[in-house]
Amino acid sequence: MARLKVAVLISGRGSNLQALLDAAGRPEFPAEVVLVISNSASAYGLERARAAGVAGLVIDHRAFPDRAAFDQAMDAELRRCGAELVCLAGFMRLLGPAFATAWRGRMINIHPSLLPSFKGLHTHRQALEAGVKLHGCSVHFVTPDLDDGPIIVQGAVPVLDGDDEDRLAARVLTVEHRIYPLAVRLIAEGRVELSGRLARVHGGAGQTESLLNPDF
Ligand code: GAR
Repeated sequence: MARLKVAVLISGRGSNLQALLDAAGRPEFPAEVVLVISNSASAYGLERARAAGVAGLVIDHRAFPDRAAFDQAMDAELRRCGAELVCLAGFMRLLGPAFATAWRGRMINIHPSLLPSFKGLHTHRQALEAGVKLHGCSVHFVTPDLDDGPIIVQGAVPVLDGDDEDRLAARVLTVEHRIYPLAVRLIAEGRVELSGRLARVHGGAGQTESLLNPDF
């Protein structure tokens, strides 16, 4: 069976990209990474793409007069490589509404909080300041509104006594690396159905296998 063609957009470290590359390296995984685009030439994730033998491209937002022109350049490359799904993985540029609308239902993002709590930046600080006892991460479809699309999979971790932002971020990150490939697999298997503002996952294991993490 043909594997789903995935493009990954990054801005930096690329550890979630690595999780996707590792998953795609397994023959039974139903998706392959065909292109990595970074808006920054110094993103370490580009090294990860190279090491995995995947094409990497820099599209520097500073080279474009405005957001629409940058978005158009990305759109052209995504179409050229035949991407069927776009994964934002630590991609730290806001995308314009036309781009988000054009890729609606075919573009997902990983966000380091249990949405709809703690949108935007500094999510671990927000969680500590709110005093929540459970925190985590979400994979969701991208819409024109920031961190607001239908949620596909979430992973939860406890907030422990003595946590600071770094410790909490590290605990969440290990779960990010599990749920992002899971979400891609569910989509590639045709098990995710968009229904208005909701994403429904069909066929048993999916959300629940990641929701309560027995490792913690
Ligand atoms: C990840 O924690 C991801 O959830 C977050 O940036 C980090 C990127 O790390 N994304 C956002 O905050 C998007 N709003 P990575 O480059 O190692 O994957």
